[in-house]
Amino acid sequence: MIAKSFPSDFLWGAATASYQLEGAATLDGRGETIWDRFSHTPGTIRDRNTADVACDHYRRFADDVAMMKEIGLRAYRFSIAWSRVFPEGTGKVNARGLDFYKALVDALLQKGIIPMVTLYHWDLPQSLQDRGGWGNRQTADHFADYAATLFGALGDRVSHWITLNEPWCVAFLGHADGIHAPGYRDFPLAVNVSHHLLLAHAKAVIRFREMNKGNGRIGIALNLVPMYPNSPSAEDERASRIDDGFMNRWFLDPVFEGRYPDDILRLYQERYHRPEIEPHDLELFSRSPVDFLGVNYYMRHLVAKSDQGRLGFEARKPPNATFTEMGWEIFPEGLSVLLRRLDSDYRHPEIFITENGIALEDDLRKDGRVQDDARVSYLRDHFAEAHRAMQSGVKVRGYFIWTLMDCFEWHDGFTKHFGLASVDRGSLERRWKASAYWYRDVIASNGF
Ligand code: FCB
Repeated sequence: MIAKSFPSDFLWGAATASYQLEGAATLDGRGETIWDRFSHTPGTIRDRNTADVACDHYRRFADDVAMMKEIGLRAYRFSIAWSRVFPEGTGKVNARGLDFYKALVDALLQKGIIPMVTLYHWDLPQSLQDRGGWGNRQTADHFADYAATLFGALGDRVSHWITLNEPWCVAFLGHADGIHAPGYRDFPLAVNVSHHLLLAHAKAVIRFREMNKGNGRIGIALNLVPMYPNSPSAEDERASRIDDGFMNRWFLDPVFEGRYPDDILRLYQERYHRPEIEPHDLELFSRSPVDFLGVNYYMRHLVAKSDQGRLGFEARKPPNATFTEMGWEIFPEGLSVLLRRLDSDYRHPEIFITENGIALEDDLRKDGRVQDDARVSYLRDHFAEAHRAMQSGVKVRGYFIWTLMDCFEWHDGFTKHFGLASVDRGSLERRWKASAYWYRDVIASNGF
């Protein structure tokens, strides 16, 4: 194995999300979210669990931060639960909710760990859903007000901000496939939702520029998928271009170019008369440049033309491949391919890998240790691909592993384990897996 070394200021981190980790669902005035409502609805979550308790991180955060220090994390990406700060989504601030995040940020800074804050990782206040949720364009304005409240409260201490996590998932898993909250199966609605999310992002970035006079930086985290046509046929090439538009360009182009990709916009408008774009919407996109792009990388798509698919394509399972417990193909090369493409198509943005990681069954030894060698190889191979892209000039500034500890994996409940640490579901005791010690050495030596 050739030694790979990373820049001395590279941000090695781990990522989490409020609903998946915090628990304390009704403590200190937290309002109900769409994920509370969804997970309490029978038939939605594989193991019939909810995240009412999750990892109880809300109460154990000080110990968790101390743990992060043990492996030398340089940065920690977490999300803020909107409904802790505004239990009804708008209106009066709930000071106790805000205090929690102030305390978390202070604990991190005190240990020299850089906080990266995501403002929206899927837990919309239920009161806003009752008024149409992301299907209502006013939600974008409420989001900008909520974001501005956080910029005001934490802007002196937080240097890295992310508006939204994976708007594609919010729109399409939540409103077209119905497998995520709020559980709708309405494709045209999902297209509108994607537009409102992008508006929310733009409005928050504009507020950030107005308020942040320091050295704070803001971006968005997108789940991006490199596309591989299933065959060299013109039909599969075209199918793969559409999938690329659906998953990637629909979000990248507004953020970086201030407009929607023509091919997909035409497709949506011809078939669904969506999204509903108002006169000044696109102008907001061009007025909200980001400082960096967050890339969440988990998979590629092997794309074939299909008349079954809503947009004329389907993603196929690659033959002879290795898959994770999620059923996702392990495909490290896709990461460097994706990074180089982003660099050349979007004028060399600064990039953080804001999520990458693997769900495994995990080999639990008799002494309670988890020997997750497959996670070590997965991470090593993906780090190597990021390094390769960096060698060719792509500006990757940091890498956040999904995730710090095993937690509530959305509709899979607690059945999928992505963590660097395991969590005993009875005692909630955390314990580092072998991969965490390997990661500690990577961080300490800035390479492997
Ligand atoms: C991403 C989500 C994250 C986690 C990982 C496995 O899509 O952002 O919360 O569920 O997948």
